[in-house]
Amino acid sequence: MCGIVGYIGPKSIDSVLLVGLIKLEYRGYDSAGLAVISDGELTIAKEKGRIADLENRLRNLELRGHVGIGHTRWATHGEPSRRNAHPHTNSDGTLAVVHNGIIENYLELKQILQKKGYVFESETDTEVIPHLIDDFLRQGLTLERAFLATLKELKGKYALAMISELQKERIYFARNGAPLIVAMGEHAGQKEYLLASDIPALVPLAKLAYYLHDGEWGYLDNGVFLFNLENQHVDFSWEAVTIRAEDIDKGSYPHFMIKEIYEQPEIMRRILRRRLRQNQILFDELRLSKDFLSSLGRIIIQASGTSLHAGLVAKLYLEQRAHIETTADYSSEFRYRNPVVGGDTLVVGISQSGETADTLAGIHEAKAKFLRVLSFVNNLNSTIARESEGVIDLMAGPEIGVASTKAYTAELLNLYLFALYLSELRWKIQEEEKKSLALELQNIPSYMEEILQQEKQLRAISEYLADKNSVLFLGRTFNYPTALEGALKLKEISYIHAEGYAAGEFKHGPIALVTDKVPVIVIAPQGEMRSKMISNLQEAKARKGTIIAIISKGDDEIAALSDFAIEIPSIREELSPLLAVLPLQLIAYHTALLRGCDVDKPRNLAKSVTVE
Ligand code: AGP
Repeated sequence: MCGIVGYIGPKSIDSVLLVGLIKLEYRGYDSAGLAVISDGELTIAKEKGRIADLENRLRNLELRGHVGIGHTRWATHGEPSRRNAHPHTNSDGTLAVVHNGIIENYLELKQILQKKGYVFESETDTEVIPHLIDDFLRQGLTLERAFLATLKELKGKYALAMISELQKERIYFARNGAPLIVAMGEHAGQKEYLLASDIPALVPLAKLAYYLHDGEWGYLDNGVFLFNLENQHVDFSWEAVTIRAEDIDKGSYPHFMIKEIYEQPEIMRRILRRRLRQNQILFDELRLSKDFLSSLGRIIIQASGTSLHAGLVAKLYLEQRAHIETTADYSSEFRYRNPVVGGDTLVVGISQSGETADTLAGIHEAKAKFLRVLSFVNNLNSTIARESEGVIDLMAGPEIGVASTKAYTAELLNLYLFALYLSELRWKIQEEEKKSLALELQNIPSYMEEILQQEKQLRAISEYLADKNSVLFLGRTFNYPTALEGALKLKEISYIHAEGYAAGEFKHGPIALVTDKVPVIVIAPQGEMRSKMISNLQEAKARKGTIIAIISKGDDEIAALSDFAIEIPSIREELSPLLAVLPLQLIAYHTALLRGCDVDKPRNLAKSVTVE
């Protein structure tokens, strides 16, 4: 996934574009570039590496202008390099394009253009766009017509922007399958118009925004002009930009990830305030009828990465609380397995970004089978939100760190409350039980705060892990997904190989991995599974494995058996995933820091995987 920005206005163009790109860097960070109409000429600057590297390059350039576009890349076609960095231009360098997505028919288009004599500089799919526009210009079309004609040739997903010396005061844009926002602000009495892949790049300049829909294109000039692919004018309405600068700023924290870990208690409070009132469970935004929900026969959850881990916990919540047969699949598997379904099946998508390509494809697959779709997302303007019949807001606020933390616990809590909501609809829960659950849920924020106070002790565990090459995580039932999530956190930001296993599987192979160099993290809070987890712990210990145990407060028995023990407040087992994951998030964070890794922008990753 990549990040795109564009600006027309009175401010100095390079600083506006650079600041916008820095705020989008979580979307991709292997190269960056910008194109500006400077003193009437199209000027390009691009660099391999981070935006800071581009900034250094700009120091030698005197850019004067007020129209420009920028791009930060997560490579799909062609390795990270200056040659493959965006913007890409036509042969005479009079027009420049930045693009997010994949042009699926780029090879065919490239061959046609090469036969016409076009020379390609890069290995990217994107470079076919400026040459196509150029070819249509040579056929006598105006720039506007050439841009539209080019869009009609492209197959695949794109969010793109283009500027040209032919119309120095204009930025063209188009969206099909990848997010793009147009926005408007004002500075010193003058209007400014902006373009971005995601809202953080627009804050605080933009006061009004419009999230483009697929098939829409247009241009920023002295205003925003919007059309569809039939070249008909499209009316649209602005919506106020409500995200504040502090929501997307690290503040006093050194990294977004640690800030977002510490935001979790407050996010739990926010969710509970909205969804749990006087023992009533409320999903006011739910558009699926109570009749349909109370007669549901089956739920299929589909999601990716951390969101699938939340889905695996939700599977147990929905089965045990609402008594609905539920499966949870990786989106990338669900979309190809052609499930046997009926009219009483609900497909549930879970996605923090709301842009994950596989999860979106899973939704398309569900709709192709005429199934109802409900999605839990952290961005109500996202593509997944728009393409789902029902949408539940995770309410976690913008999550910038590539490693998902606060969105995960927000997913768990929203999904748990949704399971209770269904259990109520289906007469599966007694009033007394609901009251005691509500009381326990209200304790979660303060329990989380208690755990976060152990950060210093957890750092000692990270010091132990920092030189290991492999770590195992074991959990059962509700905490089997916690084991998966703890392993994912560690591996994706510290680059230590880590695997999460259902602890019952330990003896069926993984135990062969245990040595005194392979620590085992066991998630063993109070509950039905505790005694079984003690057996697993003993098995690992007998093979010289170092034991790191997540235990309920006061569990001296397991503490005595462990090399390191982290206490979490006692809570009913089904709610323990909301607490047990916090120490694992902090351990991953500190281990990555000790290993000199970039915790917010880990190598090879991007915040949202909008390509398949
Ligand atoms: C989690 O830390 C990872 N960044 C990744 O697995 C992520 O959860 C996955 O790509 C799904 O993203 P989504 O929730 O935005 O769909």
